[in-house]
Amino acid sequence: MSASLSTSPSFSQIFRRVPEVAWQSPGRVNLIGEHTDYNDGFVLPLALTLGTTVEGARRDDRVLRIASREPELAMVEVPLDGLAPGSVGGWTAYVAGTAWALAEKGVSLVGADLLIDGTIPRGAGLSSSASLECSTAGALLALAGADLPLRDIALLAQRAENVFVGVPCGVMDQFASTHARAGHLLLLDTRSLEVRHIPFDLAADGLALLVVDTRAPHALVDGEYAARRASCEKAVRILGVRALRDVTDLDAALASLHDDVLRRRVRHIVSENERVLDVVELLESGDVRAIGPILSASHVSMREDYEISCRELDLVVDTALAAGALGARMTGGGFGGSAIALVELTDLDRVRETILDAFAAAGLTEPGFVDAAPGDGYGPLR
Ligand code: GLA
Repeated sequence: MSASLSTSPSFSQIFRRVPEVAWQSPGRVNLIGEHTDYNDGFVLPLALTLGTTVEGARRDDRVLRIASREPELAMVEVPLDGLAPGSVGGWTAYVAGTAWALAEKGVSLVGADLLIDGTIPRGAGLSSSASLECSTAGALLALAGADLPLRDIALLAQRAENVFVGVPCGVMDQFASTHARAGHLLLLDTRSLEVRHIPFDLAADGLALLVVDTRAPHALVDGEYAARRASCEKAVRILGVRALRDVTDLDAALASLHDDVLRRRVRHIVSENERVLDVVELLESGDVRAIGPILSASHVSMREDYEISCRELDLVVDTALAAGALGARMTGGGFGGSAIALVELTDLDRVRETILDAFAAAGLTEPGFVDAAPGDGYGPLR
């Protein structure tokens, strides 16, 4: 995990004591499998080497004092007793919500001073929230002298976000943050919650995964995300299946839907699940370059059928492909955030430059580039 912000105050400077624990959890980038996680489907993310660290020390009272190394975020005090959804707002809701979800799970929490330090660019769609929830869970568990299975930690972090913070996300980000392994992709079946680690060493094949943070403002994200979920739930009711994952005959399903928008939403989810499994098969057979067109097909599906792309994301994808990328797609929830491109290592600099030029020519904010080497999941900071 990258070094912390060296100029901002340390735990000892803020709290006048030394931390007893330091826990870290990474952000993620999803190779493929978008919006499939709330449809019982498949996702294939990797953990970044960027993430969130939570340092902590026990307190004798039942209070959480939460500080951030980002100087503009003021310290907040939250009593552990009486935590309930809606009782804490703002960025500390992710921390307080995780404490609430741990207590609900039966963990006897202790009061704590907590310092949050993150290296994931904000608003990049690289899962800074899940990484904050998971590292908070790790620190609070360690301070309480308790432990839980990784799966429970991922699920309670998602519960904190769904119920306490009020964001209806699926379970991909929290699973990636807790279960990822360096040098691997994480194949997650979001129905059975089974995971498989798929070796992913692009450099050995002369390839690289370019992650581009468009820095596009996420307008309307929450409402649109919830609307996509609602469409999927509506289609499930009409089709009489348990989840869209269970649609085995796409043509028959499309024929029985009379709303064109619903039809397109269903086509994205069903085809995206197939694409995830196709990518896994190709990676396991060693045919890495062949996943390129599948990544690009995923983008077209999200742009045309799921309608979650935006001008900046399309510009990254189109520019990368025109500059020779083997495949490219937006990644994450959509409407801004990041896109990825699979490129030959020898083309990496050129593709990057071409994207910068295209953004400048379009009068857009300069995009950022993020290192996509697959890192490790959740654990104590070493
Ligand atoms: C966001 C959510 C995830 C997932 C993705 C889209 O990142 O938090 O659960 O639904 O969008 O794949």
